[in-house]
Amino acid sequence: MATESMRDRLLAKLNSREACIGVVGLGYVGLPLALEFARAGFRVVGYDVSESVVKGLMRGESHIKDVPSAHVASAVAAGKFEATADESRLQEMDAVSIAVPTPLAKTRDPDMTYVIAAADAIARNCHPGLLIVLESTTYPGTTRDLMQPKLEAAGLTVGEDVFLAFSPERVDPGNATWNTRNTPKVVGGITAVCTEVASALYASCIDTIVPVSSTETAELVKLLENTFRSVNIGLVNEMQIVCDKLGVNVWEVIEAAATKPFGFMKFTPGPGIGGHCIPLDPHYLAWKMRTLNYKTRFIDLASEINSEMPALVVQRVAQALNDQRKPVKGCRILVLGVAYKRDVDDMRESPALDVISLLEERGAEVVYHDPYVPSFREDGHERTSVPFSDAELARADAVVIITDHSSIDYQRVVDLAPLVVDARNATAGLVRRGSGTAREKTPNVAIA
Ligand SMILES: NC(=O)c1ccc[n+]([C@@H]2O[C@H](COP(=O)([O-])OP(=O)(O)OC[C@H]3O[C@@H](n4cnc5c(N)ncnc54)[C@H](O)[C@@H]3O)[C@@H](O)[C@H]2O)c1
Repeated sequence: MATESMRDRLLAKLNSREACIGVVGLGYVGLPLALEFARAGFRVVGYDVSESVVKGLMRGESHIKDVPSAHVASAVAAGKFEATADESRLQEMDAVSIAVPTPLAKTRDPDMTYVIAAADAIARNCHPGLLIVLESTTYPGTTRDLMQPKLEAAGLTVGEDVFLAFSPERVDPGNATWNTRNTPKVVGGITAVCTEVASALYASCIDTIVPVSSTETAELVKLLENTFRSVNIGLVNEMQIVCDKLGVNVWEVIEAAATKPFGFMKFTPGPGIGGHCIPLDPHYLAWKMRTLNYKTRFIDLASEINSEMPALVVQRVAQALNDQRKPVKGCRILVLGVAYKRDVDDMRESPALDVISLLEERGAEVVYHDPYVPSFREDGHERTSVPFSDAELARADAVVIITDHSSIDYQRVVDLAPLVVDARNATAGLVRRGSGTAREKTPNVAIA
């Protein structure tokens, strides 16, 4: 009976928008979600341990490229959104979504410290009637084995006093078509009532909800999605190696295969995988399966091939320079694009970092240009983007395209750089324009 009334009360508060919604972790995932809840009419409190993130948001400044500052500022001004670093504010919430980092430790095992800290903060400030949803990507079993005991240690029975679910985040930074609202949301609760109330929360601001039968199912959905990408990218990366050995253009093969209207899905090769998800998430599943004495062979193989790609790009640079009678040592190399993918400013796990350090190990002088990454620090060394200028293009012995940002004028690159090594096919179909036919006929682009 008590369960029924907790459920009814929470559903009524969600339907009337009287519920106060909390979002724990205001990064790439949490901030857009918080603003979506605010847009749906809720009062939203975002809790983040970073004082600088909190202060910036309260000034109306967004630190996430896909979220305009104007959206943050208007939600703050309307009293619909506030950010705080005070965990006791969690006591005001009726529902909390957790979107904290889930990185890998150096040993490639899951690093659960952020999820544990967030769960502890919630357990310390929990009250009957609260709905908690974990959104951070993680191994199957996390919600039940790690989250549930913390709530029960606080004296609350999950499914009766409080509700607990997992709902994977699917945000695709830089995607102009699919956003938080129109991307279907998978929800799996510890009990059927947990799934029901969590689904009601997300239905307030997301068009399509996909309820599943358990938290483990919901956790695995996310891992399948990202393992699928990792394995297919590994496959096309291997095709690139195969094509290189056979003297065939891999991009032409892929484009032609992609004309098949059924049974083929296009993936493209590149200098390696980056970002927070695809290089890391499959290892959460591999780790979990190792604890059950099972080796996830597809995951391991894809990871092996994908992580070899930066070295292959560097090998291609060395070969192309060699064809121009130049050693890598002492050459000036301009890396174009250091973000992990097109049109984003996120450098996490970017293959550009490996390419740069491998080139420097061979004695090259490496500079970079990225319109979205004005500077970055790696291994204690601060780097600043050089301008995208005629002088920089002409001065480099080689320009290496790692990230194909759409704002870059690739024709200008092909025209001015003495040598281009293109790991993204950004220069496809471009021919060097020059003052004389001899220059026009000199091919200066190598596909990496
Ligand atoms: N970025 C993506 O494209 C993406 C897509 C899908 C899923 N995910 C998953 O979502 C989760 C969050 O990723 P993200 O990219 O938003 O991370 P992020 O690093 O951008 O943001 C995480 C935020 O959490 C805060 N934080 C850390 N510990 C905290 C704590 N104990 N309490 C409160 N706040 C805390 C950090 O200060 C930071 O602001 C991860 O599990 C990630 O795998 C990310």
